Amino acid sequence: MAYDYERDYAEAARDPDGFWRKVAQRIDWMQAPTQIRDVSFDAKDFRIRWYADGTLNATVSCLDRHLATRGDRTALIFEPDDPNGETQRIPYRELHARVCRLANALRNLGVAKGDRVTLYLPMIPDAAVAMLACARIGAIHSVVFGGFAPHSIADRIADCRSKLVITADEGLRGGKRIPLKANVDAALALPGTNSVETVLVVRHTGAAVPMQMPRDRWVDAVVEGQPDTCDPEPMNAEDPLFILYTSGSTGKPKGVLHTTGGYIVYASWTHERVFDLRDDDVFWCTADVGWVTGHSYVVYGPLANGATCVMFEGVPNYPDYSRFWNIVDKYQVTIFYTAPTAIRALMREGDAPVKATSRKSIRVLGTVGEPINPEAWRWYHDVVGDARCPITDTWWQTETGGTLIAPPLDRPQKPGSAMKPLPGILPAIVDGKGNVLEGETEGNLVLLDSWPGQMRTVYGDQKRFFETYFSTFPGKYFTGDGSHRDADGDYWITGRVDDVIIVSGHRIGSAEVESAFVSHPKVAEAAVVGFPHDIKGQGIYAYVTLMDGEAEDDALRAELIAHVRKEIGPIATPDHLQWAPGLPKTRSGKIMRRILRKIAEGAPEQLGDTSTLADPTVVESLVKHRRGQ
Ligand code: WT7
Repeated sequence: MAYDYERDYAEAARDPDGFWRKVAQRIDWMQAPTQIRDVSFDAKDFRIRWYADGTLNATVSCLDRHLATRGDRTALIFEPDDPNGETQRIPYRELHARVCRLANALRNLGVAKGDRVTLYLPMIPDAAVAMLACARIGAIHSVVFGGFAPHSIADRIADCRSKLVITADEGLRGGKRIPLKANVDAALALPGTNSVETVLVVRHTGAAVPMQMPRDRWVDAVVEGQPDTCDPEPMNAEDPLFILYTSGSTGKPKGVLHTTGGYIVYASWTHERVFDLRDDDVFWCTADVGWVTGHSYVVYGPLANGATCVMFEGVPNYPDYSRFWNIVDKYQVTIFYTAPTAIRALMREGDAPVKATSRKSIRVLGTVGEPINPEAWRWYHDVVGDARCPITDTWWQTETGGTLIAPPLDRPQKPGSAMKPLPGILPAIVDGKGNVLEGETEGNLVLLDSWPGQMRTVYGDQKRFFETYFSTFPGKYFTGDGSHRDADGDYWITGRVDDVIIVSGHRIGSAEVESAFVSHPKVAEAAVVGFPHDIKGQGIYAYVTLMDGEAEDDALRAELIAHVRKEIGPIATPDHLQWAPGLPKTRSGKIMRRILRKIAEGAPEQLGDTSTLADPTVVESLVKHRRGQ
């Protein structure tokens, strides 16, 4: 083990500025920062700034600085969806050249520092190239997950007024073709998207896709003849690096904004520390670049560390349930990082597909995205890891940029616990009133102080940023999660305490699904909650009230579920739809989701106090309906 947890935690607590100054030295700066942190979570002088007088370009740390010493080392290994398809090994030198060529092309197309570029791509190296090409010229990328539907793409383009979109003809997942370019075309036909001047298309499957001239250009064509060097745009540490949309309790998805210096320092440092990264590691994080995990631990963290990183386009069960482990063996993966939902889905298929493979190369296993139940943890440990490998259960969020709580690997782990804050991280548990609770306890998880990877704002809406994260418990960052802390001081994240649902590790806001329902002409009202689901962790349970005179039948149920899927994307497909002649509301008209959650869980005896309801009989009727299902 390269570190001593207690020593490092104490060091960071004693001298936070000195500690974070030292951590920042792992990054290549054009002008090294002398200012380290400038932070206040209080309303009156609210600010979050790190390394504010530093200048850098994140891609220099991810690419240029490796050329002299490890230019021939593989940066990315690409494994396509089809196991017999063409794999790629891209050395740092080649990745640098590809990024520079695209960056030059983007500059030629008029993209400049501060412009927004939306990426809607499969899990292929071009996605990493596109992100880095934006960062190279100071354009702000906004990656939209390939599983989102045209409406969701359009919302995200409209919110940040993107100038350019980069997509591919099609994606491939489990042998199925995903019509990415067609989805972009549909999105750009929707209102609010007229900021887009150019659409660049990566030729991936080779499918014939309609090109709309002069808007659409093939990437091959625009990079043709571009020089393979490109001067990196000098960025202030606090200049934006990217926007990533994520769901919250209310309203539309928020554009989480990360800045350059603090983010790259934090992604790089945590990637080394949390996984005990060594020089000869082959690192594989299965997350899509459409999520923050893909940003921090497929692209920015590993590349800043000069690591070799696997990018996999496909899914765990195609062509069969051994796929992950076959890939591990094929590339001799040493660190494997995935989500509990994938582990549970594979566990259900039994041990045979795992045992059919070697997995001897694996040294460290990781998990992220939602609480991992101890049963899945043990299976991961005993069967996948042959009881040989430590498991790092990493707790973090889109907002945090990198891991904040994870088990130190210099001691035994506890199944289901993320255990300890990283050095420099100050979590606390507070009660409903914001009082900090000491010792063994349970409550709301907050952070008392900032860290370099913290988000800086909600794009274009600083007020929403402050209100969402800093107004519930004044002076503290509220995570939206509940947590238990045991007698050893180890944290056990219990899940969201707000109206965010985590479905297969993907964050879905109840409000988004509800507004998709009510956009259907036959729906009067809808309320959506999460319920426990064996594989997905949480599923989506919807209560729908129809317009007067509409018939509650199975055909309409299927139609409404398909409607939500079409509006948001397949990841938001409701699992259950219950007709609700009425919804439980307070006298002021607020839907009481606590009650709806209990009914969905099938635990109506735990409804608790319903006396504040405007019409308590609504609940009886819903409970009866639920039983009848
Ligand atoms: C929410 C953030 C962090 C990247 C992927 C998800 C839940 C995340 C864990 C974990 C228990 C976890 C939390 C958090 N979560 N990791 N190890 N144990 N819960 O990022 O989409 O922003 O979601 O995921 O509820 O708030 P995200």
